[in-house]
Amino acid sequence: MGDKLTLSTIKADVGGFVGHCGVHPDLLDEARQRLAESELLLDFHVTSVGDDINLIMTHRHGVEHEGVHRLAWDTFVACTGIARKLKLYGAGQDLLKDAFSGNVKGMGPGVAEMELEERESEPVIVFMADKTEPGAWNYPLFKMFADPFNTAGLVIDPKLHGGFRFEVHDLMEHKAVDFNLPEEMYDLLVFIGAPGRFAIKSIFSRETGWIGATSSTQKLNLLAGRYVGKDDPVCMVRCQSGFPAVGEALEPFALPHLVSGWMRGSHSGPLMPVSHKQAHPTRFDGPPRVIALGFQLCQGKLIGPQDFFADPSYDRARQVANEIADYLRRLGPFEPHRLGLEQMEYTTMPQVMTKLQGRFREVD
Ligand code: F6R
Ligand code: MG
Ligand code: MG
Repeated sequence: MGDKLTLSTIKADVGGFVGHCGVHPDLLDEARQRLAESELLLDFHVTSVGDDINLIMTHRHGVEHEGVHRLAWDTFVACTGIARKLKLYGAGQDLLKDAFSGNVKGMGPGVAEMELEERESEPVIVFMADKTEPGAWNYPLFKMFADPFNTAGLVIDPKLHGGFRFEVHDLMEHKAVDFNLPEEMYDLLVFIGAPGRFAIKSIFSRETGWIGATSSTQKLNLLAGRYVGKDDPVCMVRCQSGFPAVGEALEPFALPHLVSGWMRGSHSGPLMPVSHKQAHPTRFDGPPRVIALGFQLCQGKLIGPQDFFADPSYDRARQVANEIADYLRRLGPFEPHRLGLEQMEYTTMPQVMTKLQGRFREVD
């Protein structure tokens, strides 16, 4: 137990209301009660986006702390009990193991954690998305921390001018690699332009070494010849005084970029920035949604939230997202709306191939 503060966001889908589009309020009440009873935490905020419960927690125990992870796990187990009682959809869907074993990583829930020295004033944003994958943060994180057309501070603020170090994970090979920006920008882009495989895990200031952002990036597992484990992701970003301003961190979402996920985790669609109230993906189980909750940290207390995308300046992004959705939906089962064969979460290809066995002729 040190002086440093740890910000942990742990999330899981343990049952949808209705279908895969929301969380029943009883589950959120249960989660709040569980966290309130714990002595491990300094503060917490329980929220949801789509069918995912997000536990935003502060404490002084460091990242990957067994007690904090167990608390999150037990909370999700308790919520699963209620989901089963109400026969909610997919009850317990993200709890992949029967028993907790020290760390929720690899057990189903998504995790983003950062340890930090709380600055004189510490504004943070927790971004949470539904119906997409961790690589969905690559584009906005690059814009925030590396694109001078997005973040004016990279050019005109001496505290940002030194650039940032990006830690990128290869989700298939389970490897990590660092890039120093701006000079290695082109090398970085070769990788993060392929968000189904390479995802930005964390970003550090080169000036101070401080962590500026981290995401719930997790490895993909090869199952029956396909990579699975795409998860509705979260990402936390520190703002101001050496990091992107709040407005610079929110700006990338003015363009609803295309992400993988949407219906059956097998489609490409625009990431629509919405208020917490609007975070219920309905049309074709989407389009994918992102919310942004802002907090001022105060001796570990989460002062907030500020629901950033509940702002008319994001109306246009939502309109553009709807137009993109209209266009893509008209493509139906064709790529690029439907994802490529290796990226789809659902497929009937093996069964159809078996059925057609013997009907394929050689062509010269
Ligand atoms: C995507 C998602 C939904 C479901 C779809 C089918 O991440 O959660 O789009 O994939 O509603 O769900 P099942 O297979 O449970 O009927
Ligand atoms: Mg679900
Ligand atoms: Mg979800």
